[in-house]
Amino acid sequence: MPYLCAFELFSIPFLFSFAQDAIIPYKEILQMYWEKATSFVNAQCDGLEPWQLVGLTFSSTLVSVWLHGFLFQSESLTSRTKKKFFKLLRKMPFIGAIIQKKIDEALNDVTSSLSFLKDEKDYIKALPERGMSQPEVLEKMKEYSSKGMNFSNLLTFCLCFLKVYEEFAWSNPLHPDIFPGLRKMEAEVVRIACTLFNGGPNSCGAMTSGGTESILMACKAYRDLAYERGIKQPEMLVPVSAHAAFDKAAHYFGLKLIHIPLTKAMEVDVQAMRRAISKNTAMLVCSAPQFPHGIMDPIEEVAELAVKYKIPFHVDACLGGFLIAFMDKAGFPLKHPFDFRVKGVTSISADTHKYGYAPKGSSVVLYSDKKYRSYQFFIAPDWQGGIYASPSVAGSRPGGIIAACWATLMHIGESGYIEATKRIIKTARFLESELRKIDSIFILGKPEVSVLSIGSDTFDIYRLSNLLAAKGWNLNVLQFPSSIHLCITQLHTRSGVAEQFLKDVKDSIEEIMKDLDAKTTGMGAIYGMAQSVPDRSLVAEISQAYLDGLYSTDVPCSEKHMNGSPGHH
Ligand SMILES: *Cc1c(COP(=O)(O)O)cnc(C)c1O
Ligand SMILES: *[C@@H]1O[C@H](CO)[C@@H](O)[C@H](O)[C@H]1NC(C)=O
Repeated sequence: MPYLCAFELFSIPFLFSFAQDAIIPYKEILQMYWEKATSFVNAQCDGLEPWQLVGLTFSSTLVSVWLHGFLFQSESLTSRTKKKFFKLLRKMPFIGAIIQKKIDEALNDVTSSLSFLKDEKDYIKALPERGMSQPEVLEKMKEYSSKGMNFSNLLTFCLCFLKVYEEFAWSNPLHPDIFPGLRKMEAEVVRIACTLFNGGPNSCGAMTSGGTESILMACKAYRDLAYERGIKQPEMLVPVSAHAAFDKAAHYFGLKLIHIPLTKAMEVDVQAMRRAISKNTAMLVCSAPQFPHGIMDPIEEVAELAVKYKIPFHVDACLGGFLIAFMDKAGFPLKHPFDFRVKGVTSISADTHKYGYAPKGSSVVLYSDKKYRSYQFFIAPDWQGGIYASPSVAGSRPGGIIAACWATLMHIGESGYIEATKRIIKTARFLESELRKIDSIFILGKPEVSVLSIGSDTFDIYRLSNLLAAKGWNLNVLQFPSSIHLCITQLHTRSGVAEQFLKDVKDSIEEIMKDLDAKTTGMGAIYGMAQSVPDRSLVAEISQAYLDGLYSTDVPCSEKHMNGSPGHH
C-alpha cells in the first residue's frame, strides 16, 4: 500500500503540467501534496511504537549529519576516492610489488641527484667545544665551497651587508620599545612599498620573512574575515599558475583551494573564475606576473568581480613587484594597471629579496585598508609571559635582515631601480624576440616582464634544460605543460651574456635535433616521469625522501652519490 502512495505522489507533477493552461489552483494543489505526503508517512509508520519513531528520527539525523560531513570536506570527494583507490592498488599482491619497485628506483634517482660536495668529510653533529676564532671559521668555511658557488664572491656580498647587519644583529622587533630605530626602519620599508604600489592614506602592511610568509598572512587574514562574515568553509579561487605558497596556505589554515584554469595565453580564465564564485568564496587571487611563464593575469577584470561580489582580492607580485612598479618610468609601460589604483585590489605581496635586491629573508605584504590587516595579527592576551601580540608567523625576528633591507632600499633608490628595470626588461625583450625566431621551440603566452618560458612540440624540452645546465645556465623546470623558464636578472644584462645564452640554446638544439629519440636523463627524466604518474601521492612520497635527504648527516656510501648525477649541480 505505501508503495502505491509513493507512486501517486510522483505522478502529481504530471497532472500539474496538464493543468498549466487552466487557472492553476495553487492552494488546492499544495493541500493535495501535503495530504498525500502526510498520509504516505503515516502509512509508513503504521504499527511502529513511539520509541521506534524516536529512534528512527535520531539515527536518520545522525546519518544525514555524517553524510554532509563526508561529502563536503576541504578535499573533494573525487580526490579522496582517487587516493583510496591508489592506496588499495599498492596493497594488492602483484601490482603492489611492481609499484614498490618503481618507487624504490625513483627514490634512488632522487637521492643520487642531490648534490654532495666533492670530498665529503664527516659532518659536524655538535657544537665545537671551544669557540673558533674568526680566521678559523673562515678556513673551515672553505671546505664548504664548491665549483658552482664562488665563495669569494659570496664573502664580498656578505661583508657588504655585514656592517649594517652587525649593528642590528641582536635587535628584535618583537620588542619595539627596546629597538626604536628598527621599528622606524620597518615602518619605512612598508610605507615605501605602499607608495610604490599607489596605496591610499589607509594603505598599510607588514614585513615578513619572504614571499611565502607574505602570501600565508594574506590568506590567514581573509580566512578570518570570512569566518567573521559567517562563512564556515572558506574557499580561495587561485589560478593554477599561482605560486604553490597558496596551496601551502590552504593546507596550513584549513582553507579549500579551488584551482582556476588558464586561457591559451596562460592568463587566468576570468569566466571560469566568475563561475567558481560561491557564497563560500573568501578570496580571489591573481599574479603580477606569475612565476611559471611570467604572464600578468587580467587584474582589472578580476577586480571587477571582486567589487561586484564584495570579495577580497590578493595580487601576488612577489616575483616582479620591484620591476613592475618601475616599468612606466623605465620606458616599458605595462598594458594594464595592476596595483592599488585598480578598485577591488585589497592586498599585494612583493618580495624585497628578489628584484628589491635585499638579502634573502625579507618581503612585504600590503593591504589597501587597515581593516584587512587587523585580521592578520595574532594576539594571546592571557599568556603568563605577558600579552603576546605579533604581526606575522614569526615571534622573534631578525633585526639585521630588516636593517639590511632598509639599507638596500636607501642605497639603490628610485633611480637605481629604474635603471635596473630598464636593463632587465630590455634584455628580456631582446631574448624573447630572438628565441621566437628559432623554429623548433616556442615562448608560452606574451610575457611582459622578466620571465620567459620555453616549450617545444618537436623534442623533449627537458633535454634542452639538461644541456643548458651543463653549460652553466640555471633554468627552472616547469610541468603541466612541460616547459622550462629563464628568469632574467642583472647577471644577464652584462654585455655578451644574452648573446652567449642564445648561442648555447642554438647549439644545444642542434645537438638535440641530431638524435631526436635519445633518452632524457637527470632531473628532466625525473620530471618527465613524475608528470605521467596518475597517483600524485606517490610523487609526494618521493619528494619527501628528497627533503629527508636534505637533512641527512650520514656520509653517502657509494661513489655515485658523492659526485651527483651528470648535468645537475
Ligand atoms: C618567489 C615567489 C613567491 C614565494 O616567495 P618566497 O620568497 O620564495 O617564499 C611567491 N609568488 C611568486 C610569484 C614568486 O615568484
Ligand atoms: C671568484 O671571483 C673572484 C672575484 O670575482 C675571482 O677573482 C676569482 O677568480 C673567482 N674564483 C673562481 C674559482 O672562479
